[in-house]
Amino acid sequence: MKGAPLVLTAFAAMTVALAARAGEQPIPGVTNAAQAHQDYILKCQGCHRPDGGGDDRSNPPMRGIVGRFLTVPGGREFVGQVPGVATVNLDDRRLAELVNWTLHRFDAEHLPPDFRPYTAEEIGALRRNPLRLDRVATRARLVAEFENAGSEQGKP
Ligand code: HEC
Repeated sequence: MKGAPLVLTAFAAMTVALAARAGEQPIPGVTNAAQAHQDYILKCQGCHRPDGGGDDRSNPPMRGIVGRFLTVPGGREFVGQVPGVATVNLDDRRLAELVNWTLHRFDAEHLPPDFRPYTAEEIGALRRNPLRLDRVATRARLVAEFENAGSEQGKP
């Protein structure tokens, strides 16, 4: 019995040490950041680039903006239903971790304070109804909404 807290403390210290060695803070909703990063490299960065950048012709940037989708109604669903996310060949658990990792990696700053990480169950339900052609109009509506909200508060 006496050993249990010690073991737990040792485990916690080890987790912190591992996270520190990787140069990364633990991310909510991500149990394996190395795996998520690897999945990003293999499944996402061919379009979204290593730094989450983008342009008007290929894909929009995620860096410094993607968290803002989570601040408007429908944005949370959009992120789980956008084709690049919904149709990737990863299971729901790994995809949920990858989405949480992506949001924190590229735009933790704009995530709302009450942001709840995606679970495998939520991602599973969303990806069963992927957006198709309607994604363009849906995206435009969401972007307009968060840009309006931003300018009303006097910040870009
Ligand atoms: C074939 C290129 C491509 C791949 C691969 C891809 N995406 Fe995307 N992604 C896009 C494009 C283009 C958009 C803009 C919406 C649309 O037209 O689908 C987008 C939109 C998004 C969005 C919504 C933010 C926004 O600005 O629209 C997120 C989040 C996202 N992608 C994450 C991912 C993740 C995570 C992966 C890997 C599992 C991934 N994408 C794979 C091209 C891609």
